[in-house]
Amino acid sequence: MLSDSYGRVATDLRVSLTDRCNLRCTYCMPPEGLDWLPTPELLTDDEVIRLIRIGVTQLGIREVRFTGGEPLLRRGLPSIVAATAALDPRPRIALTTNGIGLNRIAPTLAEAGLDRVNVSLDTVDADTFEKLTRRRRLDDVLAGLAAAAHAGLTPVKVNAVLMRDINDHEAPDLLAYCLEHGYQLRFIEQMPLDAQHRWQRATMVTADEILDRLSQAYTLTPADTAQRGSAPAELFWVDGGPATVGVIASVTRPFCGACNRVRLTADGQVRNCLFARKESDLRGPLRAGASDAELAERWRAAVATKLPGHGINDPSFLQPSRPMSAIGG
Ligand code: 5AD
Ligand code: SF4
Repeated sequence: MLSDSYGRVATDLRVSLTDRCNLRCTYCMPPEGLDWLPTPELLTDDEVIRLIRIGVTQLGIREVRFTGGEPLLRRGLPSIVAATAALDPRPRIALTTNGIGLNRIAPTLAEAGLDRVNVSLDTVDADTFEKLTRRRRLDDVLAGLAAAAHAGLTPVKVNAVLMRDINDHEAPDLLAYCLEHGYQLRFIEQMPLDAQHRWQRATMVTADEILDRLSQAYTLTPADTAQRGSAPAELFWVDGGPATVGVIASVTRPFCGACNRVRLTADGQVRNCLFARKESDLRGPLRAGASDAELAERWRAAVATKLPGHGINDPSFLQPSRPMSAIGG
């Protein structure tokens, strides 16, 4: 098992398959993009699959989520999903994507064994979308969402980040769209993980503000918190249910004590937290011929030293050197 010294057990593995992206969300990347990881440093498909197999068959991983950057840019994604689905015990398999290209590939991914998707969508206004992502691609994302639902990649979840004076006033419109189409919407507080280091506590839109905004158009009542477990989202019934909306208050109401996640970057580093300042290299030993048992032992050691919390609210907090796009959501 992957346990740490605070009694938490990591059963949810997030695998970043590339640090590249075809959008340029302002809260994530500068307009010119970033210095992408050099190809020789990226794990090959076979290397990724081997590490996932070790995680699932030796370390108790029960859920695998593929992320990026934008994971649909990874050519081998369908075969990586298929290899993951062939493992025994079969883990649940999810994907976090910006939705561009999902329209075309959703059926292939469902066929390969993908169970469900989370699509990032911060607005349903084409101009706001362009302002936020610096690309005019709203229609592609909406088509991707529809294709995912049609392919049975359900429940289709939508992740939204609100930025002050850009899309925060549109939160109820986004909820209306998601309710109409049967997508589960969750708002994520903006976290200090942007490559530009522009995040400021004073300007971030807090969970309380998000709930205030939504409450102007809908009646929200807290849904059963007993069932929350390790889920980061606090759920609310919308107008009495059955639909819900979620708020992931990573900054103002941290949930680190219940965290069950561990991350693998596209270049083969284990991160025991989004905000970890230290990583553990698996690619080096893997390429030097380490056995499955040796890799599993390094992975266990990496999780064992997980800190109790992200520390965003400590005066001494320092942003990790890798941005979100190179860690995976
Ligand atoms: N804070 C919160 N969420 C972020 N995302 C990307 N950067 C940040 C940030 N700084 C979101 C994306 C996507 C998911 C992977 O994380 O919008 O939905
Ligand atoms: Fe791409 Fe996601 Fe970053 Fe937006 S937030 S630029 S979709 S990696």
